[in-house]
Amino acid sequence: MEKYGVNELRKMFLEFFESKGHLAMKSFSLIPHNDKSLLLINSGMAPLKPYFTGAEIPPRRRVTTCQKCIRTGDIENVGKTARHGTFFEMLGNFSFGDYFKHEAIAWSWEFLTQVVGLDPNRLYPSIYQDDDEAFDIWNKEIGIPADRIFRFGKEDNFWEHGAGPCGPCSEIYYDRGEKYGCGKPGCTVGCECDRYMEVWNNVFTQFEGDGKGGYTELAQKNIDTGMGLERLAVVMQDVDSVFDIDTMKAIRDKVCEMSGKKYQVDALDDVSIRLITDHIRSATFMISDGIMPSNEGRGYVLRRIIRRAARHGRMLGIDGIFMAKLAATVINESKDGYPELEEKKDFIFKVLSQEEEKFGKTIDQGLSILSDMEKQMEADGVKVLSGENAFKLYDTYGCLLYTSPSPRDI
Ligand code: ALA
Repeated sequence: MEKYGVNELRKMFLEFFESKGHLAMKSFSLIPHNDKSLLLINSGMAPLKPYFTGAEIPPRRRVTTCQKCIRTGDIENVGKTARHGTFFEMLGNFSFGDYFKHEAIAWSWEFLTQVVGLDPNRLYPSIYQDDDEAFDIWNKEIGIPADRIFRFGKEDNFWEHGAGPCGPCSEIYYDRGEKYGCGKPGCTVGCECDRYMEVWNNVFTQFEGDGKGGYTELAQKNIDTGMGLERLAVVMQDVDSVFDIDTMKAIRDKVCEMSGKKYQVDALDDVSIRLITDHIRSATFMISDGIMPSNEGRGYVLRRIIRRAARHGRMLGIDGIFMAKLAATVINESKDGYPELEEKKDFIFKVLSQEEEKFGKTIDQGLSILSDMEKQMEADGVKVLSGENAFKLYDTYGCLLYTSPSPRDI
């Protein structure tokens, strides 16, 4: 298997779908346009909603993108596991009332098996439980034996994110081999372990959901596909996690260089190394799209991300502000796909440094107040910080006190 890099894979995908008549469009901004249901763009289809519903006319009925996305629902787990992250790129091909299931399935198979060269015997499709049409395409047209096609329910194979266009889907899993498995009897497609990795999602977007379980049939049948670029790179490069793929490893290595730490030596250091590696990507891309740190909405998400990363930098022992320097590595790794990062780099560095400095001052002030509180406690013979004082530190100075065994929360 060829170990393609992230930048190569992005290009291969977009060129493949251009060869199938798609218009390759630039990633849309992370800031949703005319969409109050989202704080940040979280999937390839999100900025294209008006084309799916027919509210707007697309520039072409076949479009392909590599969309920058942020999902913060699992932010508390970022760093603690090698699976979670906030920023990712989603590759997608879209049909707005043009082709439907046959072409979408056939092209996903062609790309995975013939363009990037994954072994067809390690690929397993899944379908929505009663989607016999998708079953027949996989079985009769692509030639996948019936016992290798998995039927799952709404939870796994019906794609919707809040209100908007949605529908049943057919995913493709790649068997990464026993070394990534849990070894439990019955471990197969759908198992929670790392062996069977979902790489591609073909959504047959034929409904408009109201977000409360009500669906109306859309006038046109659409295709919305999504493949996490970093995940595809994990498979192609045969590495443990997204933190080991070429572009992210470069950032991870820079964090290690700045802190003098090594990855995979100390479990707590690894939490911080992964968290910073992820968060600096989100922060860099958010600022390049014009989001500024603030106390509400998107700006607050950015502020929180920068402050979490800055704090973990301190925990690793990095001296002084470091995020602008680290953003330079993010920009170097991603400017191929996002040339605007290079153009806006001075602005990105400035915003990061200002926010980091501000946070540093707040934390130092908080720590000095904590030390006064400790002195007072000692004088009073008290051993536990009062809830009132803990809240004051958190609320005013951004310090979250913690106790073992979960010392790296913020
Ligand atoms: N919109 C689908 C997803 O994000 C393709 O998985």
